[in-house]
Amino acid sequence: MTRNRQFTLARRPHGMPVPEDFALIETPVPEPGPGGTVVRNVYVSLDPAIRGWLDDKPSYMPPVEIGAPVRASTIGRISASNDPAYAVGDWVMGLNGIEDYSLGGAGGFQMKIDPTLVPSVTNYMSIMGGAGLTAYFGLLRVGKPEAGQTVLVSGAAGSVGSLAGQIAKIHGCRAIGIAGGAEKGRRLIEAYGYDAAIDYRGKSVEQLAAEIASAAPDGVDVVFENVGGDVLDAALLNLNHGARVALCGMISEYNSAAGPVGARNLFQLIVKSASMSGFIATDFMAEIGQAYADLGRWLAEGRLVSHEHIDEGIENAFPAFLRLFEGTNQGKMILKIGED
Ligand SMILES: NC(=O)c1ccc[n+]([C@@H]2O[C@H](COP(=O)([O-])OP(=O)(O)OC[C@H]3O[C@@H](n4cnc5c(N)ncnc54)[C@H](OP(=O)(O)O)[C@@H]3O)[C@@H](O)[C@H]2O)c1
Repeated sequence: MTRNRQFTLARRPHGMPVPEDFALIETPVPEPGPGGTVVRNVYVSLDPAIRGWLDDKPSYMPPVEIGAPVRASTIGRISASNDPAYAVGDWVMGLNGIEDYSLGGAGGFQMKIDPTLVPSVTNYMSIMGGAGLTAYFGLLRVGKPEAGQTVLVSGAAGSVGSLAGQIAKIHGCRAIGIAGGAEKGRRLIEAYGYDAAIDYRGKSVEQLAAEIASAAPDGVDVVFENVGGDVLDAALLNLNHGARVALCGMISEYNSAAGPVGARNLFQLIVKSASMSGFIATDFMAEIGQAYADLGRWLAEGRLVSHEHIDEGIENAFPAFLRLFEGTNQGKMILKIGED
């Protein structure tokens, strides 16, 4: 291929992104600088976090610039190298852009990965990647569940949520999952081992709170929160004394044109002596070796399953990204943009 197709940010979205917010352009394939590399991206990780990077608001990373490729984690193969540590054909992973080719080394970062260690190289995006690490650290380091306690997970059928529920079960907890629709509810119980499933769609905070109470008659000790808004409000009404809320994500609010919805039952943290802590998975990078060892062992033992939803073609980047907010992704959302 002699061109570099790039999915760029044309303007900042207001509310739910629309196709006009993006452009698919072609630029020359980059050349590696001295000591640098070029990566042919094969898989793109489509993450809800990308939506936040499109806004010009304070975050843990600068916003994507207008006209720049939309930032995303990618997995690909070295296609040109001036770095003796990287041979052409090596598999690497990095925070790049939704584009055919990205620069690595001297100005970019690409981590070598070994596809022979996992059933599929895409597992480095799901179970052995960002989703697995987020579920692992968020649940175990922030939620701190103890055997016998009740863990409530929202966004429970998604990439992070499905793993959080399974890790809770591995640690001897009762796991209750909240997700959209009957089909996802079935998957929570049958595929991920949740003890109870709740469909949040079309329910008021009061209805949801009552359903959580009936699934968790002894109260909730750990909330693994992926959704925010009404779902978080309902969870807060079911906390036990000393409960921990691990605030992983608030996807219901990412496209709110009116701004944040806000947690309206925070008073419950006071009366239950409970805590709520936000986190970013990279906060725990010092412990990544232990996390990979545990996740890899549970995967090999068949105690963790992870589903991946792979769409194809960089021209489908927009509808594939939107799936995350429509709830039509059935597992870790990945876009395949090259041959492996
Ligand atoms: N803190 C961190 O380091 C970190 C890292 C990765 C991800 N996250 C967060 O973790 C969460 C899950 O991310 P993921 O990558 O695993 O995505 P995912 O759960 O695989 O996909 C997103 C899911 O969110 C649900 N959703 C979308 N809009 C919703 C709404 N308005 N109300 C309720 N549910 C809605 C949909 O499922 P339903 O069909 O069930 O609605 C959708 O399938 C996100 O909030 C993300 O920002 C945080």
